[in-house]
Amino acid sequence: MRIAVIPGDGIGVDVTAEAVKVVRAVGDVFGRRFEIETLPWSADHYLQTGVTIPPNGYAMLRDEFDAVFIGALGDPRVPDNRHARDILLGTRFELDLYVNYRPVTLLDSRLCPLKDRTPSDVNFVVFRENTEGLYVNVGGRFKAGTDDEVAIQEEVNTYKGVHRIVKHAFEYAQIRSATLRPAQGRPGFHRGASLPGERRRRVCMADKSNAMTHGHALWQRVFKDLAPQYPEIDARHLYIDALALLMVQNPSQFDVIVTNNLFGDIITDLGAALQGGLGLAASGNLHPGKTSMFEPVHGSAPPLAGKNVANPMGAILSAALMLEYLGLATEATAVEAAVQQAVTTGQGTREIGGTLGTRETGDVIARALRSRT
Ligand code: IPM
Ligand code: MN
Repeated sequence: MRIAVIPGDGIGVDVTAEAVKVVRAVGDVFGRRFEIETLPWSADHYLQTGVTIPPNGYAMLRDEFDAVFIGALGDPRVPDNRHARDILLGTRFELDLYVNYRPVTLLDSRLCPLKDRTPSDVNFVVFRENTEGLYVNVGGRFKAGTDDEVAIQEEVNTYKGVHRIVKHAFEYAQIRSATLRPAQGRPGFHRGASLPGERRRRVCMADKSNAMTHGHALWQRVFKDLAPQYPEIDARHLYIDALALLMVQNPSQFDVIVTNNLFGDIITDLGAALQGGLGLAASGNLHPGKTSMFEPVHGSAPPLAGKNVANPMGAILSAALMLEYLGLATEATAVEAAVQQAVTTGQGTREIGGTLGTRETGDVIARALRSRT
């Protein structure tokens, strides 16, 4: 299996090293061959060469690799973050990775900022539309820089785009609504729930159709068309502001949340807070059946770069999602178990109550995997 690794900027470099360490441990323990190719695309690379991503970059990722792993992108020396837009958002758009899959899983009660919540209360997934919405960068500035400036940023919602993400959410819930269903055919995220607590029977679609009566009317239409096709699924709609409130008040009512690109961006940061911080949050940018991209939800955190303090768990859990997507469900579960064990025993970085550095945390997780045999 060929994996392209783009460490990127800042702590992206630090955490990616640990994710790669863990993937290599998986390769050794389970006898899997991973060919890992590291690509230099980053702010440094852009500042040195003027190239954000080479002209054949997207085609190369798509055609030559089974998966792409990205650490983080963003650097104050590139004020418009053009390289991040090209490398991260460009890969999402050009590889048509329309599903941004962001599980929100609390691994230990002590990490939750809410009172008296346990892991069973914070255990849901968000499917964020990843190829359109407000991220298409359609719009413009008229009379920019003057007091008469008019700035327009258009939100694009297409039937195809909305339908495929909402359908993906229902299909995922359908497969995960029963326990112990075997993985079904196509790879990626179709592990059956192995415990009753992992069932995902409820799908909540969130939009702002009360205010955005054109674009989000389309979300309403698609949702109302699809919901009856999944009679076993409990389908519910919430306005995005109400969803934000309820995620804090009582997150246990959610299994699967599906929403647009910008709302998904915002609520997955909220979700990350519920699970103990951005350092723990994982994501997959998917086009089922095609080369997909995996990245921790956090950013590049320039002040922390190279200091061996960033939490690599979000990156390592993203690597687990990648393994699962590649059809290696047992390996993915083993990685998740190793992270869970490290969290439970307090072996991690400071923000999860540990005393370890980035590298030492990666070592603990890799060692736990190796000691399975
Ligand atoms: C994320 C990030 C990106 C986004 C930024 C870096 C453009 O916040 O992956 O959530 O908004 O999608
Ligand atoms: Mn974000």
